[in-house]
Amino acid sequence: MKQVDSRARAVIERCQLLAHCTMEPGFTTRTFLSDPMKEVHRLLSSWMQDAGMGVSLDAVGNLRGCYAGAAGSGRRLLIGSHLDTVRRAGVYDGILGVVLGVALVEALNGRRLGFQIEVVGFSEEEGLRFGIPFIGSRALIGQLDEATLNTTDANGIRVVDAIRGFGLDPSRISDAQVSADAMGYLEIHIEQGPVLENLGLQLGVVEAIAGQSRFRFTFRGQTNHAGTTPMHLRRDALAGAAEWVREVERRAQSTDALVATVGSLEVEPGASNIVPGMVRATLDVRHADDSVRKSAVQYLQQSAQTIADARQLSVSCEQHLDQPAVAMDSLFTQALESAVIRAGHRVHRMTSGAGHDAMIVARRMPAAMLFLRSPAGISHDAAENVFEEDVAAALVAASYFLEEIECQHA
Ligand code: HGY
Ligand code: MN
Ligand code: MN
Repeated sequence: MKQVDSRARAVIERCQLLAHCTMEPGFTTRTFLSDPMKEVHRLLSSWMQDAGMGVSLDAVGNLRGCYAGAAGSGRRLLIGSHLDTVRRAGVYDGILGVVLGVALVEALNGRRLGFQIEVVGFSEEEGLRFGIPFIGSRALIGQLDEATLNTTDANGIRVVDAIRGFGLDPSRISDAQVSADAMGYLEIHIEQGPVLENLGLQLGVVEAIAGQSRFRFTFRGQTNHAGTTPMHLRRDALAGAAEWVREVERRAQSTDALVATVGSLEVEPGASNIVPGMVRATLDVRHADDSVRKSAVQYLQQSAQTIADARQLSVSCEQHLDQPAVAMDSLFTQALESAVIRAGHRVHRMTSGAGHDAMIVARRMPAAMLFLRSPAGISHDAAENVFEEDVAAALVAASYFLEEIECQHA
């Protein structure tokens, strides 16, 4: 057990070290192909190479470490998660799954399995820079479309420009596709919620990932003087957006297991003595049942229009994501459950409210997810944490998972 504990400690220390690779000193903020990603690639590549892996960086910045299987082993198991973060993130969201993948290969101590292992650090899952998530995993399955490549960030830089600017070659994007010998994908991730902690469990088995819709709504009224414009003559875009934000919350509170969030509001011109003329508001709606999610989206689009009409505002919305709910692969999940039981834990199957690269990779191959408990249920915040004993438990369970897969595919 001592060795597992020291491996777990090393995993945590590596994640903490990588958290300093940031665009915002004092915080952890790392977007698609931002400068700090170079140091992330350097550190992870050195650990991968020391573990006996061949390392490459594909054309969208996914870091790929390959550990050969026994002679003649033609199949490949992918283990991974994302390298990017939200703004002012925690230490473990995404990166933990990549560092754990390397630790699992290290724990083999040179032993070769009946399949290759490819550890993948996806370049972009959160969607912070371009408002569109899953760029890395969509490239891996060959579904990165022109529209995404031409999407611009706040500085007018397109995805394809960012790729060139990082020294990568957009003409090689098709080479990023996973090879045909891929037999499945395992993602190990923090739960990012309170469920496991409330159940007193260290590990969870994900059976499905909730679907999610992401939009940007724009409310337009009339910019005007805050001192001279009587209340009944105003067309206040922020007051209208605020009324709608309350409607978003009310709809989610009144629909079982629905979550809906307005995560950001941009107010223009944005001064205390000016009636706001324009507000951009993001909307994130999630549910395990796609029909519930879609009817909530429809209702919130309609309520935005009703509120705008009543206030002589205009409102428009653009959709950035319509990601259906995704079930994990039953055979792989059974193997994961057996592994969790062998590691001495009760199996708790659960739906993930957070989105993950697994929901994209699952379009191409069987996928399974293992959750670690999130202390205080906090994530997407610097207070995000993991317990060392849970990292150790995940290493043991995931090592048993490799053995289960070896038996399944013997
Ligand atoms: O937002 C999410 O669901 C995840 O953290 N990308
Ligand atoms: Mn996240
Ligand atoms: Mn994540």
